[in-house]
Amino acid sequence: MKRKTAVALQCVALTGAIAMGLSAWTSTASAQPPAATPWSDTALSPDARAKLLVAQLTQDEKFQLIRSYYAGPDRPADKPFPKGAIASAGYVPPIPRLGIPALEESDAGLGVASSDRMRPGDDATPLPAGPVTAASWDPQIAYRGGAMIGSEAHSKGFNVLLAGGINLMREPRNGRNFEYAGEDPLLAGAIVGETIRGVQSQHVISTIKHFALNDQETGRNTINAQIGEQAMRESDLLAFELAIERGKPGSVMCSYNKVNGDWACENDYLMNQVLKRDWKYPGFVMSDWGGAHSAAKAVNAGLDQESAGEIFDQQVFFDAPLRDALAKGEVTQARVDDMVQRILRSMFATGVFEHPAKKAPIDGKANLAVSRETLEAGAVLLRNEHDLLPLDAATLTSVAVIGAHADKGVLAGGGSSLVTAKGGNAVPGLEPTKWPGPVMYHPYAPLKALRAMAPKANVQFAEGSDVAAAAALAAKSQVAVVFVQKWATESLDAPDISLPDGQDALVSAVAKANPRTIVVLENGGPVAMPWLDQVGAVLETWYPGGDGGVAIANLLSGKVNPSGRLPLSWPRDLSQLPRPELPAAVGGTPPASVDYAIEGADIGYRWFQSRDIKPLFPFGYGLSYTRFEHGPLKVSSRDGQLIATVDVRNTGSHAGAEVAQVYVQPPGAKAKRLAGFTKVFLQAGEHRELAIPLERRLLADFDVATHGWMVRGGDYGVAEGNSSEDLGTPVTLKLPAGHL
Ligand code: BGC
Repeated sequence: MKRKTAVALQCVALTGAIAMGLSAWTSTASAQPPAATPWSDTALSPDARAKLLVAQLTQDEKFQLIRSYYAGPDRPADKPFPKGAIASAGYVPPIPRLGIPALEESDAGLGVASSDRMRPGDDATPLPAGPVTAASWDPQIAYRGGAMIGSEAHSKGFNVLLAGGINLMREPRNGRNFEYAGEDPLLAGAIVGETIRGVQSQHVISTIKHFALNDQETGRNTINAQIGEQAMRESDLLAFELAIERGKPGSVMCSYNKVNGDWACENDYLMNQVLKRDWKYPGFVMSDWGGAHSAAKAVNAGLDQESAGEIFDQQVFFDAPLRDALAKGEVTQARVDDMVQRILRSMFATGVFEHPAKKAPIDGKANLAVSRETLEAGAVLLRNEHDLLPLDAATLTSVAVIGAHADKGVLAGGGSSLVTAKGGNAVPGLEPTKWPGPVMYHPYAPLKALRAMAPKANVQFAEGSDVAAAAALAAKSQVAVVFVQKWATESLDAPDISLPDGQDALVSAVAKANPRTIVVLENGGPVAMPWLDQVGAVLETWYPGGDGGVAIANLLSGKVNPSGRLPLSWPRDLSQLPRPELPAAVGGTPPASVDYAIEGADIGYRWFQSRDIKPLFPFGYGLSYTRFEHGPLKVSSRDGQLIATVDVRNTGSHAGAEVAQVYVQPPGAKAKRLAGFTKVFLQAGEHRELAIPLERRLLADFDVATHGWMVRGGDYGVAEGNSSEDLGTPVTLKLPAGHL
């Protein structure tokens, strides 16, 4: 059985409704979609089309649309696999008499997920981990990645991707950080918004998730995230707000946890007040798998579709219990119609009707290039002493490649987002082999790529468990490239940030044997590096994804100049965090609540700055093989839009990309906030004046009394640079107090 919340499994019997649904699917499978109908008029708005169609639906058809079925093949024997579904996360049967297609829902944000359990032999192109895309600071890279996975989904018959993970990194130990986009609302909002836009450009509905504050996996099905309204609006919810504005996802997935006492999937504040009222969100909210807890309460709080309730919820709420609630007047018919309207509206808006998802050839080579280029744009060079990198591949005679199965592949994160790449798991059999496993290595071996990079060199591999043998190989090689890994997975947090399996000792021994040691990290979140001062270079790749080995070789050889910048703060140790302890991360009963009010909206670098703590590496940090100078900053206002202008010059000898980051410091605040950024590629010697729009909500505070953004008024410091800790002279911006 797939996962965790097996609660439901024991207590659910196959309902009449499922049986009814099944017969409906089989008997109507051959029905022809109707000829031209009023709602097929594409000149009408998606809302108008949906309205026309809702008017045609019977009550049973409406109830058919507001729930999905689990389409995993690992369903219990007494619950047959939904006919017509593609094995995957979810399925809503079609209504052929009205030409309404099925919703075929697949995980997730790093590609079309299919561990072999789901669809044996079915492969897809894995993108690198989410933080890689965020570290590119390049919305176009995010868009391309989204379009790539969207196109693969479409060509496999899926029209919904459960893609768009944007939970902010409050907890570096969170097992799902690799699915998300770091700690900053502006950066995450831009990157995830563009990923969503990319997915939906392929007529596949994207699902931003997990709404909201599901920022750790420990106790995710029970824990109550506590935080003040202003703080959440300025942090986690701001990230959603910006991404939703930019990407317009057809659906939002509410999360497992509670927020301030109410389950996220029955949270009136989150779904009704914020999402639908304040943000005017027109799409639908689906529950996470096991996230629905009621009929009337959830529906009245804004939940529009129950996901896979027959397997994961305590019962299917959006059938008999909801019909009862309707009969008793606890829910209105208008609200049920609104739920259906929202689902159909998103289907129209995304082109699901006009561009049906169906099996089609996939250009695997082109897609692999998208993945490779994502890592090339997002890998972060954390250290490069004495310009050890780039390696001069032409003159290299010997290279020791060590550790982390680099002879076979690159590590992937685990859980529902896991993609099976072409060639399958390069290192099968590692524990856990079952949920939340399998531990998967994608078969894009760095060793092979490094051999191709330096064809004249003797490139040898030591697998690393024999530390002495690895050190001996390093000692007789010109350079040593040590790969270290830390597997992370959905449903589990890491108890700490240390590297497992004695890898610290391995790196130290190799570095002692050869100071020209380069460490390549494959990890979900920041890791402690007690050996940092001993090694020559460190390259962070998170989980490298498709063609990861080649991208790594290209970065190490300088064929590609690293230009990733950290989308997160890298703590020195756990004592620097708002919550040094993560109770029950290694078992035991999780606490009832987690106190996010400690840092409030000051996540990551804002926490570090407000407490005068120096992290190991700050948010926004990353090295390059060239040097950049940032010219003086000017701030102006054009038609009410604040623009920061700065000249960036490549003063080194390599072409490369730089990220200009603009931070604002509101009057009286200790912490700065990223308010704008632009990535620019410059040839050696080239310079460019960049005009960087500033997001006004980052200059304002959320005012709970008026539900709006309020500028404090006074002197705002605005500074630009290439990390949150490396900024030029600030300019003062005088702003009058008032609402945005
Ligand atoms: C995860 C979601 C995922 C869903 C469907 C849940 O366990 O939290 O992110 O989309 O399963 O597989």
